[in-house]
Amino acid sequence: MSLFRPDIAALDGYIPGEQPQETGWVKLNTNENPYPASPRVVSAIQQAAEGRLNVYPDPLSKGFCKAAAELFNLDPDWILPANGSDENLTILIRSFADKNDLIAYPYPSYILYETLAEIQGTRYARLRLNPNWSWNVRLNWPLIEQAKLLFVPNPNSPSGNHWDHEVIQSLVPPQGILVHDEAYGDFVDEPHRMELLHTELGKQIVVTRTLSKSYSLAGIRFGFSIAHPDLTAGMRKVKDSYNCDMLALAAAEAAIRDQDWMLSNRDKILATRTHLFDELAKLGFNPIPSQTNFVWTTHPTMPHAEIYQELKNRKILVRYMKFPNGVAPSDENSEGLLDGLRITVGTDVEIAKLLEALREIVG
Ligand SMILES: Cc1ncc(COP(=O)(O)O)c(C=O)c1O
Repeated sequence: MSLFRPDIAALDGYIPGEQPQETGWVKLNTNENPYPASPRVVSAIQQAAEGRLNVYPDPLSKGFCKAAAELFNLDPDWILPANGSDENLTILIRSFADKNDLIAYPYPSYILYETLAEIQGTRYARLRLNPNWSWNVRLNWPLIEQAKLLFVPNPNSPSGNHWDHEVIQSLVPPQGILVHDEAYGDFVDEPHRMELLHTELGKQIVVTRTLSKSYSLAGIRFGFSIAHPDLTAGMRKVKDSYNCDMLALAAAEAAIRDQDWMLSNRDKILATRTHLFDELAKLGFNPIPSQTNFVWTTHPTMPHAEIYQELKNRKILVRYMKFPNGVAPSDENSEGLLDGLRITVGTDVEIAKLLEALREIVG
């Protein structure tokens, strides 16, 4: 007999990427930034640690909200910090999705949306993307129309492509919220300035951001939502009182106040991404043009799981991903299985090691 709620007993649970704890790996599997965080972040953490750790942190994270508001030219009450962007996704579901409501998301995309919907016990739907990763809004409209929450990672993961604003606006559910998940938003060619929030539909859009990727702070766990104050006020009621600890708050504020540091790492990553893309193509892979810090690629003949394993044998970790029903089933592919490799853009040295190994494996 299980004492768990039936939804939880039936749940497989989200499986995060492998996180080997020993050194010696070339780790290109969970889209971390290969460069260290700003030295200002390190000294802000040190200063906070020498301060008053015996008292609770600011439940409203006012220092961070002010810094983020200045960056995006908004008032601080548009900002809602969280313990990683993943916590924001949980807050959104707990705030808006009742048992009979529908949560929708493109497929293939970030699998956690589905796990969170399962935990909440709501209805959920995958909106299948076209094989070239574009949207078929007309086909998906009957589900979008019913959705209370529509999660759209933009740029998308695992593909790395970016949908433009017209597409995004056409996806806003008439009776619901569109969550524009910008985990990789700083890596797009032309990062936006929250224009979406200032449109007619702005009151139905929540932008989520993370410091895990562009700011090199995956180890800290810090993300934030940006939305109309009517929305953040409701979501604030749902969060844990002290959801961001004092060290994370100090780190996050210092990080977003040091834009030069983030942007110079971003530029290095974009240059390495171009090199990785070109070299994968030369090796016979079919990489997708990326607007993120990773590249999604398939290979026309060699099984992706085998390439992944061969790399792992050489202590190089990439992410092998498979999406049953990821493409429309066909005669040759009755399950419609879509699989491939998602490769994080590391340093030039790491990418050189990866390419050398791939030359041995598929060359
Ligand atoms: C699309 C997407 N959204 C959200 C997140 C979660 O970010 P965080 O580390 O802030 O929880 C990730 C992390 O990989 C992601 O890929």
